Amino acid sequence: MPLGQYEIVRADAFDWLAKAKRLSIHAVVTDPPYGLIEYTPRELQKRESGRGGVWRIPPSFDGCKRNPLPRFTVLNARDRNRLHTFFRHFAESLLPVLVPGAHIFVATNPLVSQIVYKPFIDAGFEKRGEIMRVVHTLRGGDRPKNAHQEFPDVTVMPKSCWEPWGLFRKPCEGTVKHNLRKWKTGGLRRVSDTAPFRDLIYSSPARGYERQVAPHPSLKPQHFLRQIVRAALPLAEGVLLDPFMGSGSTIAAATALGLRSVGLEINPNYLRLARRAIPLLANYEPEGNDRNDQFGVREAAKTLCGKAVYRRSDVTLRGGKPIPKNGNNE
Ligand SMILES: C[S@@+](CC[C@H](N)C(=O)[O-])C[C@H]1O[C@@H](n2cnc3c(N)ncnc32)[C@H](O)[C@@H]1O
Repeated sequence: MPLGQYEIVRADAFDWLAKAKRLSIHAVVTDPPYGLIEYTPRELQKRESGRGGVWRIPPSFDGCKRNPLPRFTVLNARDRNRLHTFFRHFAESLLPVLVPGAHIFVATNPLVSQIVYKPFIDAGFEKRGEIMRVVHTLRGGDRPKNAHQEFPDVTVMPKSCWEPWGLFRKPCEGTVKHNLRKWKTGGLRRVSDTAPFRDLIYSSPARGYERQVAPHPSLKPQHFLRQIVRAALPLAEGVLLDPFMGSGSTIAAATALGLRSVGLEINPNYLRLARRAIPLLANYEPEGNDRNDQFGVREAAKTLCGKAVYRRSDVTLRGGKPIPKNGNNE
């Protein structure tokens, strides 16, 4: 597969992984259906009708109608067991398909992350940290239901201001340097000569143009995805997989960065959406988030939001603007 090229497939991720070539994938970035039931036809229909189920319709205020959010507090013990089984199966299916040193970035949320992480460790992956995506959502922060006035100073759950992304690695073969030489994996790509990849990223929810071209209920923003997708392939070589790609936003991020990727999606409507949305999202240049600058990564926040990312040796600076040495602006 040439650089920047992608393949998207309508498939059940588990069937695809069972048939996939061993040692063929170098990184995974994915946002799985971690509530599991929220993408079943029954729950999607409840979401459409705006009544009950796992999809909570947030209160509308300031004149804006909000998108429904999955409500993970409705998961019972049975759902939690199913969730655990799902992630055990997922982790075990991934292991043989990944090369040694391959990293996995998996989106989750603070209410269920423990059920997501343990199966990865049990399957033989190393936990390498968590990325904190600082994002203000409408989750939590409410006073007790039907007793707002009686308990005006009480919040039932903290207002959610961050989203955890678990970071795992398949054990390396030998040392990291040996693994990098042989498999092109084992580490994370630095942001720049002066800034390593960091585990705290300020990120706004996907809005405006992105939402318009990729109206998936769980759309992740390009600004954030491009940073983690870039980190996931330390030498910008190999193939990245998103087994639950939805609208294909991860695949678009990889394409924008000139990386090779494969996306899987079980729902034919979302696959159709991805087919349309990927080229549009890949060509989109999101705004950087200025809050990231306080970590000394101004350069990264700016460059990563653009279409392509170069190593310092690949570019010359003209008027403060990076110009690729090959003269091609792509
Ligand atoms: C949380 S969404 C991902 C959305 C994505 N982050 C985006 O920006 O569009 C998870 C997706 O996984 C899909 N899915 C659920 N089970 C699947 C399976 N077994 N195989 C492949 N895709 C599946 C759902 O249809 C849904 O689109």
